[in-house]
Amino acid sequence: MSYTRTFGEASGRNGKKRINTLVMKINAREPEIVKIRIAARTIRKGGTVAFPTETVYGLGADALNEEAVKRIYVAKKRPPDNPMIIHVANKEEVYKLARNVPKAAEKLMDRFWPGPLTLILRRSKVVPDITVAGLDTVAIRMPDNEVALALISESKTSIAAPSANLAGKPSPTTAAHVIEDLAGRIDIILDAGATRIGVESTVIDMTLDPPQILRPGGVPYEELKRVLGKVTLHPTVLTTKIKHLIRVRSPGMKHKHYAPNATVIVVEGNFGAVMKRVQGLADLHMKKGKKVGIMATDESKSEYHADAIKSLGSRKNLTTAAKRLYGLLREFDAEGVDIIISEGLATKGLGLAIANRLRRASGSNVVKA
Ligand code: TXA
Ligand code: MG
Repeated sequence: MSYTRTFGEASGRNGKKRINTLVMKINAREPEIVKIRIAARTIRKGGTVAFPTETVYGLGADALNEEAVKRIYVAKKRPPDNPMIIHVANKEEVYKLARNVPKAAEKLMDRFWPGPLTLILRRSKVVPDITVAGLDTVAIRMPDNEVALALISESKTSIAAPSANLAGKPSPTTAAHVIEDLAGRIDIILDAGATRIGVESTVIDMTLDPPQILRPGGVPYEELKRVLGKVTLHPTVLTTKIKHLIRVRSPGMKHKHYAPNATVIVVEGNFGAVMKRVQGLADLHMKKGKKVGIMATDESKSEYHADAIKSLGSRKNLTTAAKRLYGLLREFDAEGVDIIISEGLATKGLGLAIANRLRRASGSNVVKA
């Protein structure tokens, strides 16, 4: 067995006990069952396990065990009013966790599961309050990842799992990101390499008619519209004024999110104008003595000058951009950049999720070029 790394039990400052975090490399396609069993035993005992999904790494615990779910909130420093997504390995589990499952939800499960789609449904009594932060609804998804599915099955329970980052930070797309944020705070990290999609699942509220997308993600709005006929977008999806919205349906939407330490500015509009404005802002901030990073694309990267320039890939390839987004935000931080100026991309397909995350990371600091 290859335990690649463990972290010491050194007592942290202010007397808080550090947990000994076991990091296990695991085969993404054919996960070694011994390793899955070790992780599953930890879940059953009420511990915390970070594991890969097709979107981002999740921090899992037994969804039906209050003490276990509490450990997730503590490890992530997550505000207690932000509920968890429950991960299942088969559809039968949904009918234990939820009631009054509408036909349209079953249609979505058949079409998109396993996959990056989270359904908000009426909650059943077996789900503890803490898992859903006291709401009368529950978020459920079946991830499209062999390690995740094996872990859930072997744990013989459902697994509550938010993204495995410290609250507010960009979600982790590699085990190294999880280590950066949570080493010493959780029991196990299963390392199966980089995640396939790179942005989180789409969250859709199926208790509304027509259903409403609360968070754009791996399953595009256009595809959901094709299957459901009618589906709306929650106003926070693309707003630049989140604080002013009175009704917040997805509690996570009101917290600062997906944000690196650096200040983020997003420049949207026509590509030529965007490039000019990005360079103009970069010059302005460099003149003020700031260390400036530009999040460019392959089409523009050689045109810019700044302290750090990184590319999301071609403007035409939103799949690559989604995959790179969070990792690049973390890289800029690692290089000590003060300000990240990012080009906005098209908002079709996966682009809607990318635009949403960039706007959130910027705290709605969006410039129209
Ligand atoms: O792709 C993903 O969804 C990843 C992987 C690990 O599965 N998970 C993830 O979890 O992104 P998290 O906790 O970072 O985001 C879950 C989002 C939050 O915005 C939360 O507020 C919302 O889903 N949510 C959870 N339960 C909800 C509910 N009952 N009603 C409305 N929104 C809910
Ligand atoms: Mg998250």
